[in-house]
Amino acid sequence: MSLSVILGLMLCIEAPVNKARSSTMSLSVILGLMLCIKAPGSSAVTDVFVKRGEDVLLEVMDDVTKKFDFFIWKFNIINVLVGYLPGRKPTVSKGYTGRVEFSVENYSVKLKYLQDDDSGVYEAQVTGAKEQTIAKYMVTVQGPVSPVDLNPDSVSNSSDSCSLTVTCSTEDSHISSTFTCDTKTCSQEGGDQSKVTNSGASLRVHLLNGTIICHHSNQVSWTQKNMTQIQDLCPLHAGLSDGVSICLVKTVVFSVGLIIMVSVVISVHLMEKIRKLK
Ligand SMILES: *[C@@H]1O[C@H](CO)[C@@H](O)[C@H](O)[C@H]1NC(C)=O
Ligand SMILES: *[C@@H]1O[C@H](CO)[C@@H](O)[C@H](O)[C@H]1NC(C)=O
Ligand SMILES: *[C@@H]1O[C@H](CO)[C@@H](O)[C@H](O)[C@H]1NC(C)=O
Ligand SMILES: *[C@@H]1O[C@H](CO)[C@@H](O)[C@H](O)[C@H]1NC(C)=O
Repeated sequence: MSLSVILGLMLCIEAPVNKARSSTMSLSVILGLMLCIKAPGSSAVTDVFVKRGEDVLLEVMDDVTKKFDFFIWKFNIINVLVGYLPGRKPTVSKGYTGRVEFSVENYSVKLKYLQDDDSGVYEAQVTGAKEQTIAKYMVTVQGPVSPVDLNPDSVSNSSDSCSLTVTCSTEDSHISSTFTCDTKTCSQEGGDQSKVTNSGASLRVHLLNGTIICHHSNQVSWTQKNMTQIQDLCPLHAGLSDGVSICLVKTVVFSVGLIIMVSVVISVHLMEKIRKLK
């Protein structure tokens, strides 16, 4: 197969250049295209993410496996996990004893208790008339993501809007975001905020239905913290009720003033009457 890929690539590169030799070119184009189409198909890599300590089943979908002399599962090109000669018992390499289960029915391999070192490329290869890769997996082993902390940094409250800045942090990364509340709703400045952490996970802060959510995830796990009471820290500014309250204060002050004035007038009047009576 590797020969055909090289040939295919050579032809792919060469083909457009050789404009003069038309007959050769068309042949090589056809051949090249055939090989170009076939090559990625047979060696397409499937990404698989596995949580540390868990198992994974790598399967062979191709039925090229019908006729072959020898079958192997390889890791990172040079390490053989298991070899199989039809009619014999499969042989598991020393380093993989107890960690690999091979199925002679469908050639799948189960890798058990995966650790970080097991991340890499796994290939199923058959040898017969020629060598062929019939399955290829890029396995990535990941640990669970760490917990997150979501804390308010600062609140700036003015008469017509309120801004709340929060920081969401993990053990190796952090992200900040600002939320603004006006008279009706709260919104996130710049929309959803997210970043890739130093350990390759994703850290995201977003607003959902009035709740600030900080979400930390990789392909195998996630953790989250919510801040539900955004309006306790940053109240909606009810413009109408503000007006009403100011109006109320004015009314009360005015009424009290009026009552005092009236009572002063009345008492002065009464005192004059009393003096006249004497
Ligand atoms: C292949 O065999 C394994 C082990 O017996 C089984 O778990 C798996 O489902 C099989 N896969 C297919 C595609 O039949
Ligand atoms: C923010 O301002 C509003 C209106 O001025 C007021 O009602 C509210 O109590 C203030 N909140 C804080 C936390 O200062
Ligand atoms: C938003 O919150 C309200 C009340 O808390 C609830 O009734 C509603 O279903 C929520 N909507 C979504 C999309 O979660
Ligand atoms: C956070 O919010 C989501 C959806 O609103 C909910 O499913 C989840 O249980 C909440 N988590 C916490 C820790 O409150």
